[in-house]
Amino acid sequence: MITFDFNTYIKEKNLGKYEDKIKEIKKHFNSDNKLLDWYHIDKCISVEEIEQIKFVSSKVRDICDTFVVIGIGGSFMGAKAVIECLSSYFKKGKPEIIFAGNNLSGEYLMNLLTYLEDKNIIINVISKSGNTLETKVTFDLLYKFMQKKYDDDELKERIIITTDNEEGYLRSLVKEKGFISFNVPREIGGRFSVLSTVGLLPIAVMQKDFIGLLDGARKANIDMAIKYAVIRDILYREGKIIESFTYYEPKMTTFIEWLKQLFAETQGKNKKDILPISCSNTRDLHSLGQFYQEGNPIIFETVFGIKQDYNINTNIKEFTIDNINMIALDKVAKAHFKAGIESNIIYLDKLDAETLGELIYFFEIAAASGAYLLDVYPFDQPGVNEYKKLINEELK
Ligand code: PA5
Repeated sequence: MITFDFNTYIKEKNLGKYEDKIKEIKKHFNSDNKLLDWYHIDKCISVEEIEQIKFVSSKVRDICDTFVVIGIGGSFMGAKAVIECLSSYFKKGKPEIIFAGNNLSGEYLMNLLTYLEDKNIIINVISKSGNTLETKVTFDLLYKFMQKKYDDDELKERIIITTDNEEGYLRSLVKEKGFISFNVPREIGGRFSVLSTVGLLPIAVMQKDFIGLLDGARKANIDMAIKYAVIRDILYREGKIIESFTYYEPKMTTFIEWLKQLFAETQGKNKKDILPISCSNTRDLHSLGQFYQEGNPIIFETVFGIKQDYNINTNIKEFTIDNINMIALDKVAKAHFKAGIESNIIYLDKLDAETLGELIYFFEIAAASGAYLLDVYPFDQPGVNEYKKLINEELK
């Protein structure tokens, strides 16, 4: 379960003046705009695709010891976030999962190829466009490596392509070579695609409860997500131009990276928007904390607290370590509030698949709603396309 506290450390806001805008936002969500297909969970993923994911993920586990997911941005971040949130800090999953294709480091690729030398590998390359530079370069290299290691029949079991149903280089490879493939729904943008084949196949391979994730998403509190978007909008107009996603459970790190992408690409347009940053506490209390308390008060926080308690006793009175973590969350928010830094607090009962699904969908709604409030179009990323164009011109 998720509970929201948008009162204790948020000064009173006049939400009433947003009534008409909220009606407009709801109208957008209920329109037949295909780019809102992510809003209808059953359009993100079909019953047939769920069955295919179950079948293929179980085969992947039977065959390989190393599963390499190649993709960048929305094509890897959501899956990585969910898998890390639902995994032990130290126990390695089976198969081992490696996320490649999200950088252009020669050293990384050289080390990866050496590491994979004696591994039993399956690759899942994920790219909606099929043309993204980092993904393409990494896939081409690993494909050549796989061709040396395996014959054509083996490759048909070892290369899985998730891409557009009809277009692009990767789809043509599927047609030519007969590789296993999944379809990226054309209308669902990368950062909104974690609950589609894009995110769910890697999540299922790692035996994380992807059905629970979808169930959780269906339960998300849409009104609360819009309310959160409104509070952010008011804070922004009050001069709070930076939002810190502050968390007290380090395994949420990639989830917070996913959130940063979701908000930055959805809302950061026309010289507007809040800059999303992250803060991992209590570590960052010993670094960024100084700025939050006494620096330029242009920040507000959205804070995540997890209520589960592992009952690890400390030598401090009767407090467990989780008690102290929660006390830290509350007292830090209080101290920041005194310094003019307001905080929305989101409490999770525990970090399980259902709660994560709920959270993912909650933030997707909030990001799109926030874009409507800023009067920017949520579902493109012209800035990202601009630099891609310049690099591609140089590399032509
Ligand atoms: O949200 C988005 O649309 C982007 O972050 C994309 O996911 C990212 O650029 C990768 O694109 P593609 O899946 O086409 O390789």
